Amino acid sequence: MNIDLDGKVAIVTGVGRGIGREIVATLAREGVTTVSVDVSAAELAETGALLDELGGRHREFECDIRDADRVAAVVAAVEAEYGRIDLLVNNAGVVGNGPIDELDERTWDFVHEVNLKGTFLMCRAVLPAMKRQRSGRILNAASFAALVPIYGSGAYASSKAAVAHFTRALAGEVGPWNITVNAYAPGMIPTSMNHFDELETAAQDRLLDTLTLRRWGAKSDIASLICFLASDHAGYITGTLIDISGGKLATQVPRLAYEAAAAAGEYDLATAE
Ligand SMILES: NC(=O)c1ccc[n+]([C@@H]2O[C@H](COP(=O)([O-])OP(=O)(O)OC[C@H]3O[C@@H](n4cnc5c(N)ncnc54)[C@H](O)[C@@H]3O)[C@@H](O)[C@H]2O)c1
Repeated sequence: MNIDLDGKVAIVTGVGRGIGREIVATLAREGVTTVSVDVSAAELAETGALLDELGGRHREFECDIRDADRVAAVVAAVEAEYGRIDLLVNNAGVVGNGPIDELDERTWDFVHEVNLKGTFLMCRAVLPAMKRQRSGRILNAASFAALVPIYGSGAYASSKAAVAHFTRALAGEVGPWNITVNAYAPGMIPTSMNHFDELETAAQDRLLDTLTLRRWGAKSDIASLICFLASDHAGYITGTLIDISGGKLATQVPRLAYEAAAAAGEYDLATAE
């Protein structure tokens, strides 16, 4: 199967670091014209330098996705320059952890404004172009926490569950224009958002024990999914939430399989990730 994205125009938010930077670099390698959106000018510049090295057409826009006017201006600039928008990846997101009885309103509002309202504003802004084209792909970063929250994730998990439901709502409106809208639910990908791979070994093990594939996810795992969902091969998928968590829902106690494999001399729990 050949995933041909050559010549498409994509807007990706939250590309200053982490998964977003990997997504935009991967799309660029596939011949996509990339439009990078991030609130951090310094990190955006680093991503721009990486895209310079990779070659191909790219533009970077400093933009807080909570700002409707700025979002509209960015999308207008993209339309003026490239004439079309094939793909929007709403990757930008923030966490705001804390048990609910200690959660302050500012954290609650911040997390929902970036994760949910920002996603809404970006989607709303690209829809006129996609409707004119009678085609388009929108991919929204949810989280495994949208399916099953973790302790202290009340604000984050509810915002991501809302992103997943918003995705279905939007998909249900834009089918007549051949626009598909999907969300994806990453599990545990070490980034500066979570620093999973810098935890004490025991703390890492406790989290890895929740994974059927007992390893951290890679940023490239998400970028590969994005490429597939953006391709013509995924044209019949819409309104879904795709679990990309290494099998957090597959089995009740993932560690049992590893203990059995270790007992059979087929797996070394001590040296595994
Ligand atoms: N890393 C994981 O394990 C994981 C798991 C599930 C879901 N996710 C989701 O994947 C996405 C990327 O996560 P990550 O780990 O790469 O995060 P990250 O913190 O490394 O990167 C987030 C990026 O979003 C940008 N951003 C934040 N607020 C913004 C705003 N208001 N406007 C524009 N840009 C903004 C940041 O500047 C940064 O470049 C997020 O939506 C996150 O919730 C990540």
